[in-house]
Amino acid sequence: MLAVVLAVFAVFAASRLLKYYRAQKDLGYLPGLRSLVTPMSPLGFALPPSQYNPGRDWQWRLRESVYRDAGTETISAIPYVFGPPCIYTSSPEVAKQVVSTKGQFFKAYDTTLITLLWGPNIFAANGEEWRKHRRIINPAFSNATFASVWEQTSRVFDEMEVGEGWAGKRAVDLPVVNGLTNKLALILISTCGFGNPLKWQFTNSASGGMSFEKALSIVSSNHIALLLIPDWMYRLPNKWIRELKTAVDRMNLFMRELIEKRRAEMAQKAPERTDILSAMIKSSESEGKFSMDDSELVGNTFLLLSAGHDTVAHTLDAAFALLALHQDFQEEVYQELLEVMPTEADFTYENSARLVKTRACFLEASRMFPSGFMLIRDTAEDVVLQNVGPNNDDVLPLKRGTRVVVDMIGLHHNPRIFPDPEAFKPERWYNAHENDMSMFSFGARACIGRKFAVAEGICFLAKLLRRWRVEPLAKEGETKEQWKQRVVRGVVVLNLGIGEVPVRLVRRDC
Ligand code: HEM
Repeated sequence: MLAVVLAVFAVFAASRLLKYYRAQKDLGYLPGLRSLVTPMSPLGFALPPSQYNPGRDWQWRLRESVYRDAGTETISAIPYVFGPPCIYTSSPEVAKQVVSTKGQFFKAYDTTLITLLWGPNIFAANGEEWRKHRRIINPAFSNATFASVWEQTSRVFDEMEVGEGWAGKRAVDLPVVNGLTNKLALILISTCGFGNPLKWQFTNSASGGMSFEKALSIVSSNHIALLLIPDWMYRLPNKWIRELKTAVDRMNLFMRELIEKRRAEMAQKAPERTDILSAMIKSSESEGKFSMDDSELVGNTFLLLSAGHDTVAHTLDAAFALLALHQDFQEEVYQELLEVMPTEADFTYENSARLVKTRACFLEASRMFPSGFMLIRDTAEDVVLQNVGPNNDDVLPLKRGTRVVVDMIGLHHNPRIFPDPEAFKPERWYNAHENDMSMFSFGARACIGRKFAVAEGICFLAKLLRRWRVEPLAKEGETKEQWKQRVVRGVVVLNLGIGEVPVRLVRRDC
């Protein structure tokens, strides 16, 4: 018996060794991560970090060392036992090749599965299908939409101040800002993207069941569970599972109702709307190449609701923490706000183009904590990557089917591109053009919502900093440096965010 076990083990070990050496060769003997499992595998993602597993947040934890120690901006991750081998790059030159839409790279099914649970969508699509989605949705991201984002962010901020009981207070302690930013960003995408205006005080649905906001929030924070839980488990008498099931059913119902209501409104020739939902429904009613079917409508509705709020909320959380630590810069932003928007009447979307420092603050927070932290692609054919190696002037031939990941944390902490990368330096972005905002990716497939996000971010920060000074909310006896060590750290769930941010707001005008 022992002999059989040993023989099986020997065959397994030999096959792994062979696989390991083949992967080394296929990935051009690039140095990098070597571990029992790769972080790209479900096991590597789920298990805590250890000497055998870099863990799901290795890109954050090792951001200062992994490329430096390898001596190159493009590295390999090869497992001894489990997981797909792949390449990670922190080089913008390589990243641009990888995310190009020319057809050499594509998004593989397993890397977009989480978004496909609700239906086909723009994020998961490739080639002609992606072009179709993008062409239909693009017109909704217009100046009129961005102006409405500005207006609505301002309205929701005012509602939040009242709803949270800040009115008339000299100072407000917020032990965790993250819940507030999440709620604000959700209201914004629902209102401006889908014409489904929500109030700060969440209400129950008309039928008295779980509200849309609660359903989306439960679903958004349980993506991975949704992927893993088999249907039969939903029948178990477990409170958490039952709540998840209710949230999924409610979400489906809300999205379908939203779509049906808008269809009926459009059939009655109501005044034309220009939001994302209307653009998609209009296409669903046309024939031919550029039409969306119902499953694509639901898939995109969920994707945009989800991608459109988590990312912005995480960036605002990071901005809160960084502003709390940089009082001098906060004062500069305040002076800019007084100059550009001295009265309420000046608080307009048009004037926001002059808020150079406020915008730079949002972008620098997004650089330090790029919420879309991995751009994952597979090669569709044999490809030769340019600009690799220690001097970024080498080439790397890759076989068809190789996985290449743009490490957005590594890229945005790459000292060649962002000198002194751990320092908060908003001035990096003072003259940035839209195409320089690399945290939204590059080229034709860059984030469709980047101007939406920036309008929302600037408006939120402008309202906040015009009225309040942000300070660290420290524990008793905690120094500013200790607060920084405790708070300013990356947390990876589906996106990259910062941990819970505790701040104190001190009113400026009293
Ligand atoms: C700070 C906020 C945001 C950041 C950092 C961000 C980042 C990104 C990144 C890096 C990508 C590329 C993903 C890839 O190619 O794999 C992306 C794509 C996308 N983003 Fe954003 N995003 C933000 C806000 C938004 C908002 C507000 C919306 C919607 C209103 C949105 C909708 C999308 C969509 C639909 C895509 C897929 C585009 C395509 O494949 O053509 N994002 N985003």
